[in-house]
Amino acid sequence: MAETGAPLVAADEAPAYSAPTLDPTAPVAAPLEFYNAEAEDADSGYPGPTRVRRASTLPSSILNYRKENGRTYHSYGSTEHWGPNDEAAKDQQDLSHHFWTLLLEGQFYLAPIKPPKKVLDLGTGTGIWAIAMGDEFPEATITGTDLSPIQPSWVPPNCHFEIDDFNKEYGRENSYDLVHTRELLGTIPNWVDFFKKAYAALEPGGWIDCTEPAIKLGSTHYAFPASHPWAMWYSIFTAIDAKSGLAFDIAPSLKSAMQEAGFVNIIEKKTNVPIGKWPKDKRQKELGAWNQLRIDTGLRDFAERRLKTVMEWENDEILVLVAKCRASVQDPREGLCHDIYHVYGQKPERCVEAGQLK
Ligand SMILES: C[S@@+](CC[C@H](N)C(=O)[O-])C[C@H]1O[C@@H](n2cnc3c(N)ncnc32)[C@H](O)[C@@H]1O
Repeated sequence: MAETGAPLVAADEAPAYSAPTLDPTAPVAAPLEFYNAEAEDADSGYPGPTRVRRASTLPSSILNYRKENGRTYHSYGSTEHWGPNDEAAKDQQDLSHHFWTLLLEGQFYLAPIKPPKKVLDLGTGTGIWAIAMGDEFPEATITGTDLSPIQPSWVPPNCHFEIDDFNKEYGRENSYDLVHTRELLGTIPNWVDFFKKAYAALEPGGWIDCTEPAIKLGSTHYAFPASHPWAMWYSIFTAIDAKSGLAFDIAPSLKSAMQEAGFVNIIEKKTNVPIGKWPKDKRQKELGAWNQLRIDTGLRDFAERRLKTVMEWENDEILVLVAKCRASVQDPREGLCHDIYHVYGQKPERCVEAGQLK
């Protein structure tokens, strides 16, 4: 963060820039069920079966989404995820994927394993990362798991999805050479336990690769007073973390949790990224535009359920906070930015557990 007191960047100084928009011709996602190699989708455009089954055969306990405030939420799982799973939420996840990929300059992960053979994407959401990985690495098998069956049916033949809860034992011991997670903030009661389960799922020498945004926003040119919407946001979310036990503010502690779980060769890459089109540099401006779009469209999704159920806020109070934060995000004079954490680590080639080499 830059020093306090530097002059604001005037809105009209920023060169004209069009915000990116979603591709309206993209196929509409159809819900699907667990992996099933028998099913085929002749229209998929891919050479092999799509390996999915239609949602019509999903148990009703999974498909009976909870409805709150005109949004739908998953019904399966041991913990309540904060985010809705309806079309608006899926669009937000898909446009976020573009931001994450742009940030990694076209790569899908940073762990030094290329090509991977067997990949697990925990909390896959719409499955957009898993699908991209399936295309990128046709020889690899990609499994995406989530509480919500919101993945599309048009998927590469080497990619499939399962309904699974990563906060329970998922028993996939020594199976994968890459476990990927992205934006799982606010969903995990104990990150060390979470990493231990991922460790067990990896084969010796395999890698875990995690991406999480810091929820503490800053400005390039002034320190936020306590009354600033983003200062309020941070203090409210740390209160939510303490009350709910499902922390949002976890990005800075990923590395130590990974270490505690037994991973080695851990690398933490922290990148300060703009929010908005205010940077003059072309790449930073593009990153900032997408980050702005991701946050602007996601704010209500991030906040609504936890503010209501954990903090017992009224709808009006939630809308006011969200509106103030959105106004700040849309104002180039704010010079908003935050840190994104990429943390990856390796399961040792020879693991000693309970006195035995594994
Ligand atoms: C913010 S989204 C991120 C989706 C995806 N990782 C991405 O980056 O595109 C978080 C996802 O985690 C899933 N999730 C939350 N808690 C979960 C759990 N206990 N087990 C499996 N998935 C979970 C949610 O359903 C949601 O799809």
